[in-house]
Amino acid sequence: MKRYKTLAESVRFRRELGIWKPVAHDERLIFGGEGRSAVVYRIQGTDKALKVFYPDKVHIAKEEADIYKQLSGIPSFPSLHESGGTYIVIDWINGKTLFECLEEGIDIPGELVDEADRALAAARKRGLNPSDVHLRNIMISDKGRIVLIDVARFRQTKDCMNWEDLKTAYTQFYTKRFFPKRIPKRLLNMIGVMYKKKLLPIYRRKANGVTEHP
Ligand SMILES: Nc1ncnc2c1ncn2[C@@H]1O[C@H](COP(=O)(O)OP(=O)(O)OP(=O)(O)O)[C@@H](O)[C@H]1O
Ligand SMILES: [Mg+2]
Repeated sequence: MKRYKTLAESVRFRRELGIWKPVAHDERLIFGGEGRSAVVYRIQGTDKALKVFYPDKVHIAKEEADIYKQLSGIPSFPSLHESGGTYIVIDWINGKTLFECLEEGIDIPGELVDEADRALAAARKRGLNPSDVHLRNIMISDKGRIVLIDVARFRQTKDCMNWEDLKTAYTQFYTKRFFPKRIPKRLLNMIGVMYKKKLLPIYRRKANGVTEHP
């Protein structure tokens, strides 16, 4: 539809200190969030999200659109409505990312962790290899359901342990009474950086019962 293409083309970026920043957009676009590849808007008066990729990341638009087509029909993933050279249009999710839940002290129940696990298993059954499943890519909708967004790296061949490590952290820490349910954003970001640099001691329980040390 020409309308979405026109809206996507209204988004202009400028690079500041190596980071792309949206500097202009159509007034019907309401800022929803941003990541390392794109900026996401809600299209005013609709339940659709427009994800516009940064100028050096536009190749991801087709890749993510193709993956959403492969996931089509699995609950817990947004539906794809359209895609173009620089953008995709998917369901807008009213809700919060798990990152925001931790930041605001909103409880994350175990049933939702299981729901995310089932959705990722369903994606694997369709031949995908879910990767980059982190706290900002998992949402809890206002209907209390899990929604997994940002599937662009689901065809990566390298195995990604993000989700397994999140589940481990959930059972080993989050569910414990002493563990704070509200964590300041700066601390969450710091934990994220340390995790990426492999500076966190993560003990993974393997299928054979052996505990693996870092
Ligand atoms: N469909 C959606 N509904 C509501 N909010 C969304 C939606 N898609 C993305 N967002 C918000 O925008 C943020 C960035 O989106 P997304 O994760 O798709 O971008 P990205 O650049 O691919 O991210 P990453 O840095 O993980 O690669 C999300 O963390 C979320 O807060
Ligand atoms: Mg993301």
